[in-house]
Amino acid sequence: YPIKKPREQSWSFAGPFGTYDKGQLQRGLKVYTEVCAACHSLKRVPFRALGELGYTDEQVKSFAAAYEVEDGPNSEGEMFTRPALPTDTFPGPYSNDEEAKLANNGALPPDFSLIAKARAVERGFPKFVFDIFTQYAEGGPDYIYSLLMGYGEEPPANIEILEGLHYNPYFIAGPALAMAQPLYDESVEYDDGTPATLDQQARDVSAFLMWAAEPHLGERKEMGFRVMIFLILFAAFLYVAKRQVWSRVE
Ligand code: HEM
Repeated sequence: YPIKKPREQSWSFAGPFGTYDKGQLQRGLKVYTEVCAACHSLKRVPFRALGELGYTDEQVKSFAAAYEVEDGPNSEGEMFTRPALPTDTFPGPYSNDEEAKLANNGALPPDFSLIAKARAVERGFPKFVFDIFTQYAEGGPDYIYSLLMGYGEEPPANIEILEGLHYNPYFIAGPALAMAQPLYDESVEYDDGTPATLDQQARDVSAFLMWAAEPHLGERKEMGFRVMIFLILFAAFLYVAKRQVWSRVE
């Protein structure tokens, strides 16, 4: 079966000077919490990290408090639940993998904490040569976006789709996957008035998942740029110094 290559999109965080668009991340968070979180967890991301999306401490606190997390044991040795604090991580929708599989026809919805990195597949020669210079790292969000947009096509006649699976030519592991199309036009209503088309929501949640997997991407790129400038200047300095030191040797 032919697997389609992810459709490359232009992201605000692409390139050597890329940074996240906070408005987009806030919209992506909304898509995640209102749609994806019904099945997918985000277990490694603490609520306090949402401060980076432009929310105030108070907003983060009340966002976290809407979730219940398990804690304990208390002095009686019992486990108990309490409202989440900013230091807690997003609780998943299921209490364990068995329960998750039971609810999803035997398939396990993967955790989202690193999914954008995990699906950033190798692009092969010659692209990877240029990727070093363009700082290409958007393979993951390109893939997630393409997957979310990739439902609805009729499978080719020679491919049989097993019951309970859904055809999607972008899925990396086969012609069909256990997840039905999760997003449609207006699956959520955006607070900033952005029209919630399927394309917009797919784009926003993909950007959000990239942020979840690599929250300090902007800082990393900035530091990398400074280091390169430093190394270039330092190399020039060393060259001049070497000429000076050896100038009287015949
Ligand atoms: C798999 C994204 C909503 C159930 C996946 C994968 C991604 C993804 C990227 C991994 C595909 C791969 O392995 O390459 C999303 C997004 C959602 C969403 C962005 C929200 C917009 C949901 C919902 C459900 C669900 C609501 C349950 C009703 C699953 C399952 C799998 C899966 C069962 C495993 C599929 C398999 O391996 O066959 N999803 N998902 N997802 N998702 Fe979702």
